[in-house]
Parts: sequence; structure tokens; C-alpha cells
Amino acid sequence: MSKQYDVVVLGGGPGGYTAAIRAAQLGRTVALVEKDKLGGTCLHRGCIPSKALLRSAEVYALARTSAGFGVETGGVTLDFGKVQARKRQIVEQLHKGVQSLMKKNKIDVYIGSGRVTGPSIFSPRSGAVAVELASGEAELLVGDRLIIAAGSRPRLLPGLEADGEYVLTSDEALEMEELPKSILIIGGGVIGVEWASMLNDFGVGVTILEYENRLLPQEDKDLSRELERLFRKRGIKAVTGAKVIPETVAAESGGMTLEAEVGGKRETFRAEKVLVAVGRVPNGDGLGLENTNVQVERGAIRVNAHFQTKEPHIYAIGDVIGGPQLAHAASSQAIAAVEHALGLDAEPPVPEWIPRCIYSRPEVAAIGLSETSAKERGHDVKTGTFSFKALGKALVLGETDGFVKVVADKRTGDLLGVHMIGPHVTDMIGEAALARLLDAVPWEVGRAIHPHPTLSEALAEAMLAVDGRAVNG
Ligand code: NAI
Repeated sequence: MSKQYDVVVLGGGPGGYTAAIRAAQLGRTVALVEKDKLGGTCLHRGCIPSKALLRSAEVYALARTSAGFGVETGGVTLDFGKVQARKRQIVEQLHKGVQSLMKKNKIDVYIGSGRVTGPSIFSPRSGAVAVELASGEAELLVGDRLIIAAGSRPRLLPGLEADGEYVLTSDEALEMEELPKSILIIGGGVIGVEWASMLNDFGVGVTILEYENRLLPQEDKDLSRELERLFRKRGIKAVTGAKVIPETVAAESGGMTLEAEVGGKRETFRAEKVLVAVGRVPNGDGLGLENTNVQVERGAIRVNAHFQTKEPHIYAIGDVIGGPQLAHAASSQAIAAVEHALGLDAEPPVPEWIPRCIYSRPEVAAIGLSETSAKERGHDVKTGTFSFKALGKALVLGETDGFVKVVADKRTGDLLGVHMIGPHVTDMIGEAALARLLDAVPWEVGRAIHPHPTLSEALAEAMLAVDGRAVNG
């Protein structure tokens, strides 16, 4: 016996559950299949638990420096068990929230592993998904439209497979019950930088080995330079241009040792644990898509601008299509995909204008083109910057490191990119996204009245600085 739905969604992360909710809002019957827990990587192994740990690390660091604010706390100690318990409580609360959203929207949730079995025998233009339920029973779901949001998993390095004890990915690192004394982090991208910042604040000795010649190689060079400077000041060792030699990885008593080629020379690195953070692999294999015409390349499902695969009734969104592997990218793609699938006039999100946020201390946030990539694309570029050192609110907070940099086109005045490093910049980047959506040029953003004293003044001043109009810079 099969069950018929208008929309069947495979995967219950921010992409999948948003797609399910949007389809239900549009009056369709919806089934959602999730093999683990609703909320996906973001809620259980990604954004939320890591940010909860980062917050505890930040509070610990602040408590140790509180005397500078005139607040004497005496001895500050860390209870890492409580840190983990707080993280679990936050995740559980949000997990319940997602479950109740499914109920409220009358979405049928199937906890089990789903496989696409090909076009339905009842109608070749609809898709069938076989679900092996957690209970051991099987179910066949037939959907007029299928939305695949199966996510991604950590990429492993040969010779450095995660063993959960000495070699970890972010999945295992999030579950650590005790902190190591030292850690080698392979990869200085988003995960590497967040974990380096957090573990350093918790008192762990951190070394980052990054293959490219700077941390956060995807971001504007000025952000990388400032972050490296600030990390160095905190005692984080960042080795860039480091080529790890997998054959040299060896366990030794109480830890790991490995060699890397740095500047043409071999160097040996030792630490109690190794965290591998070298990207994530899309989960497009093993979903039964070989039963369809859907194209999958190295795990990534190929889609057109509307997130539609080669099978017109099958869509794919989020990490599983590659591209920006971010929860908010997945949820915005979910809405566009569902609306297109259901015949509405959908506007797909522009990848370049999806904000990128890194929750290290200080935070990093960016949107659009870096200065270098803008020039590579042929723009004649003008820039404006504003330092947090000159800002009243930053001084009040005691967080004056960092700056805001705006990149614009000299000829048209168009806003091309915004790059920020400093306090709470992840909360400020939304304004740049809005500016871009409304096609505002920098001076228009600067002219909007920003309250004083706030951190948002730094963005306004950097926008004005593009045309030499900053008042306080
Ligand atoms: P990533 O792509 O950001 O960084 C991986 C880094 O590893 C790159 O800098 C790369 O050059 C380096 N690398 C690759 N192979 C290497 C090797 N053999 N030796 C040394 N370095 C090597 O990937 P990451 O940090 O693993 O994050 C995965 C995904 O998760 C990203 O798409 C990221 O955006 C997302 N994410 C987003 C977060 C956020 O929005 N705050 C937080 C955590 C992850």
C-alpha cells in the first residue's frame, strides 16, 4: 500500500523542514522523511551546538578579563560538563520547536531512511520514495513533487579517518566530554577558525594547519590578515601553506604526530587530538537517484536555477547541491524551489548575496564580492573602511578590534561587497543584505540614520567612506 502526497520531502534539516512548511502553507499535503532527527546538521551537529559552545567559551574569556571592567570575580573555573549540558538543553528546546512546527502545519513526518525508487507506477510524472522506518517497517510514499534536502557530511582525509578518540571531525568534537590540552586543526576555513577560537578561549593549545596561504581563503584578504593578527595575539598558532603528509600520521602515547610541508621544509606537529575540518561532502549518493535521470556528481545533485533536476518533478536544495553550505542558503532555496514546483512565480536567491558568518572571536561576516574578485570580474573598484577603534560603542564594550570594509563600483556606484570583522558583525550583515535587495548604493545606506551609540554606526561610516563622506573616520 502506498501513501499519496502532493509533496514529499527527503531530509528534515533547515532546507527540508522549510520546504515542507512552505508547501503546507500553500495548501498541499506534505510528507517529510528524516533518517535521524528533525533539525538536521544545523540543529544537532552544526550551527546551534557549536554556537552554544562558542558562547560558553566567550563568557569564560570575558570572566577572566572582567577586572578590566571593574568587576572582580575571584577565581574563574570552567565546568565543561555544564557547558555541554547547556548546549544539549538549547538543542533539545529547538528540536521540540521544529517538531511542533510540523504538527502545526499538519505535515506527516516519517522517521526512517528514504530511497527514491523511480517514477511512480501510478503516474510517471510523480516520484516514489521507499522509506525504511525506524520501527523496521517499510512505507511507500508517492509524491507529485519530490524535494531532496539530504545535506552533507564531513570530508575525511585519507590516513586521517575519524576514530572519535584522537582524530575527530566536528561531529565528534561537539560531543567531547573533556577538553584536550592541545589540538591540531587541519583546515583554516569556517569550521577550523570557529573551533580554534573556541578551544583557545577554553584554554586548549591550538595549532591550525591550512593548505592555502591564509586563513579563510575564500574571504577578502584584509579579513584574513586581521584575523591572523588577532589569533596570533591570543596565542593561536596558524600555519598557512601547510601540506599535511598523510603517510606520516602516527599515534604516540597520549596523542598524535604528523608532518607537513611548510615553505619547502618538513615540520613535525604534535597534539593530543586532531580535528579535521577540510570541507563537507554532499549526500547525493545512496538516495536511489540511479533509478532516475537525476545527475549526481561527487555526491552533489545537479540542479538548474530553480533547483530543478533533470527530472522536472524532482528538486534538490541545500548542502546536497554543493554551493554555499549554509542553513540560511538552504531555507531560502527551499522556499524558491517549492514555489517553483507548485507553479508560482518564484525568485531564486542569488548565491553571491547570501551572507557568510563566522562566529569566532572576533566575528567575521561578509556578503558579495571581495575587493580582489570584484577586480577580477572587471569592476573599477572603490572602497571605504571604518575601524571599530574609533567607535564609542565598541570602546564601551571593550571590543575595539576589527573593521568594516565596503567594496563598490566606481562607475555605477553599485554596492559589490561588505566585509566585516569585529564585535557582533554577524548580526549586522543583514543590513547589507537588505541594502543589496533594495539595490541601495553605499551612500544611501550611510544616509539612513543609525542610532548612537551602536555598532551599526561602523557600517554606516564605512558606506559613507566609499565616497569620502565619513564623518568620524
Ligand atoms: P571550508 O571549505 O570553509 O574550509 C576548509 C579549509 O580546509 C579550506 O580553507 C581549505 O583550503 C582547507 N584544506 C582543504 N584540504 C586541506 C588539507 N589537506 N590540509 C590543510 N588544509 C586543507 O570547510 P569547513 O570549514 O570544513 O566547513 C564546511 C562547511 O560548513 C562550509 O561550507 C562552511 O561554510 C559550513 N559551515 C558554516 C558555518 C557558519 O556559517 N558559521 C560554521 C561551520 C561550517
